[in-house]
Amino acid sequence: MIDPSKPDLEESVNVTETHDRVVRGAAAAAREKKLKENGAEPVSLGVMLLCAVPLLSAGWALGNAGSLFSYKATLKDGYVRVIPSDGEATKLPAKSILEVYVSRGEKLYKTKCSGCHGPTGAGDGAQYPSLSGSEWVTGESERLAMIILNGLAGPTSTGKTYGVMPAQGIGMKAEDLAYLMTFVRNAFGNSSGDVVTQEMGTAAFEISGKRAKAGEAVNSAELAADHLKELPGEPADATLMVDPITLEPAEAK
Ligand code: HEC
Repeated sequence: MIDPSKPDLEESVNVTETHDRVVRGAAAAAREKKLKENGAEPVSLGVMLLCAVPLLSAGWALGNAGSLFSYKATLKDGYVRVIPSDGEATKLPAKSILEVYVSRGEKLYKTKCSGCHGPTGAGDGAQYPSLSGSEWVTGESERLAMIILNGLAGPTSTGKTYGVMPAQGIGMKAEDLAYLMTFVRNAFGNSSGDVVTQEMGTAAFEISGKRAKAGEAVNSAELAADHLKELPGEPADATLMVDPITLEPAEAK
């Protein structure tokens, strides 16, 4: 008969029992000296309580007293935020129509013209002429519009030929032409002081479309013969105060 507690007959020790003892011992040892990684040690109760103090007081301030995060305490007495239904709250301070056109035109100039004529409009004296002090910029508005919309094949206003300016009117809207023209006529030391209106911008596109050599750059002969005039349209009062977003005249308050 084999004794089940001594499966190995040639062993004098009880294998099953000894094995059990070894396993229990190892488990106990593991329990005794648990290794903790840095930062993973349990937090003591004292520290926990200490941390609870600011949290609880913040909670109290939020809930009961209601003052710490309440606008009631930080706003002045009698302040009432008015949100009128007619959108009045979104209106920006009025500006003169000249100022608004110039600032819109400046953005367009930066993307469309400054690559050649330079950020200060001074050109480079070799390939690109200066727009500062140019008679063709501040003079008759139809001439300037034709140069922008169709480009220019020299000579320029000073008699010098720089090259050929490519047409800039492609993809341009009538109002953009108006903003752009108003800007160059009132920037870089130029000060025509007038506004090229959107109506005039629209007229410029019509005149440009009816040119005999439509699609070709204008030249000084054509400019002198056909376009030495102001664009048709009601001149605007440059000092008119308008809403800078809607361009609606600002009502006197
Ligand atoms: C790709 C380069 C280039 C771009 C972009 C360009 N121009 Fe020109 N522009 C020229 C060149 C070159 C001339 C001179 C053409 C010539 O010699 O016939 C010129 C001439 C002019 C003139 C004539 C100046 C004078 O006194 O005779 C005006 C006005 C003008 N440009 C306005 C503009 C405006 C406004 C824009 C932006 C909408 C613009 N240009 C964009 C190259 C450019």
